Amino acid sequence: MSHDSDVPEDAAQAPALDFAGTTPYEDYVQADVLTHLQHPLSDDPGEMVFLVTTQVMELWFTVIVHEWESAAASLRQDDLPGALAALKRSTYELQSLNASWEPLAHLTPAQFNSYRSALGEGSGFQSAMYRRLEFLLGEKSASMLVPHRGAPRVYGELEKALHEPSLYDEVLRFLARRGEDVPDEVLERDLAARHEPHPAVEAVWARAYAGDQGSDVVRLGEALTEVAELVWRWRNDHLVATRRAMGSKTGTGGSAGVAWLEKRAAKNVFPELWTARSHV
Ligand code: HEM
Repeated sequence: MSHDSDVPEDAAQAPALDFAGTTPYEDYVQADVLTHLQHPLSDDPGEMVFLVTTQVMELWFTVIVHEWESAAASLRQDDLPGALAALKRSTYELQSLNASWEPLAHLTPAQFNSYRSALGEGSGFQSAMYRRLEFLLGEKSASMLVPHRGAPRVYGELEKALHEPSLYDEVLRFLARRGEDVPDEVLERDLAARHEPHPAVEAVWARAYAGDQGSDVVRLGEALTEVAELVWRWRNDHLVATRRAMGSKTGTGGSAGVAWLEKRAAKNVFPELWTARSHV
C-alpha cells in the first residue's frame, strides 16, 4: 500500500490512471476537439453562450436527423415498432433541444447588440443540418441549397436529401402498402418539391382517428404529431427569443426578421395530421 497522498488508498477500486496514448474517453468522445471549436468573434463575454448554444443545437439537429432517417428506413421495411422507437427517441431529443433555448431566451437588445455586429451576415438560416431536418419533414426546397454552393460536402449531402423520400413520404408509402387509400399522385410526387397537403391523405388520418384508438395508424399518427408539435415549439421559442433580442429589426441573414420567422412558424408540420382533426 502506498503512502503517497496523490495515490488513492484503495487502488483496486480507483479508476485507471495510466494510458499509453490519449485516454479511451478522448478517443471516443473527442472532447479535446469539441471543446476547442469555440472561437468568439467579439470581446463580449456573453457571446460564448450564444456560440455554444448554437453548436449544441447543431448537434441535436444531427442526432434528430439520424433518428428520422432511421425511422424512415424502418418504415421502408414495414418495421413499425422500429420506426416508433426512433420517433420516440427523437421526441426526447427534441425536448432537450428546446430546453437549450433557456440561456438565449432572456437577452435584452443591448446584450445581443454587444456581439451582433460581429456576426456579419452569419445566420441560422444558413444551417445545413436544419435544412436536412426540414427536408425529412417534407419541407423540401431546392433554393435552400444555394447558400451551400461553396461547400461541396455539405452541398452533396443536402442535394442527396432533397431527392430522397422524406420521413413523411415513407409514412404515406407505408400506409398505402397497408391498404390505406393514398392516391398515386401523392405516392409518385416530385420528391424534390415541398409536400402539399392533400384531401385524400387528410381523409386517411381522419378515418383512422375516428376508429380504434390503439390501431397502428393512430399510434404512428400520434408519434408524428408529437414530433410536429415539438418542432413547432422550437420555431416558436426561436421566434420569441428573437423578438426579445432584436424587436422588428432585419435579420443578419437579410430577412425581415421576426415578420419572416412568424410566417415560417405558422406552417404546420405534417399538415394533414392537424386538419384531419376537424373531421373526427
Ligand atoms: C437570440 C438569438 C437569435 C436570434 C436573435 C436569431 C434571429 C434569427 C433571424 C432574424 C432569422 C431569420 C433569418 C435572418 O434574416 O437572419 C433566423 C433564422 C434562423 N435561425 Fe436564428 N436567431 C437566434 C438564435 C438561433 C440559434 C441558437 C439557432 C440554432 C441553430 C438558430 C437557428 C436558426 C435557423 C435554423 C433559422 C432559419 C429558420 C427557417 O429557415 O425557417 N437561431 N434567426
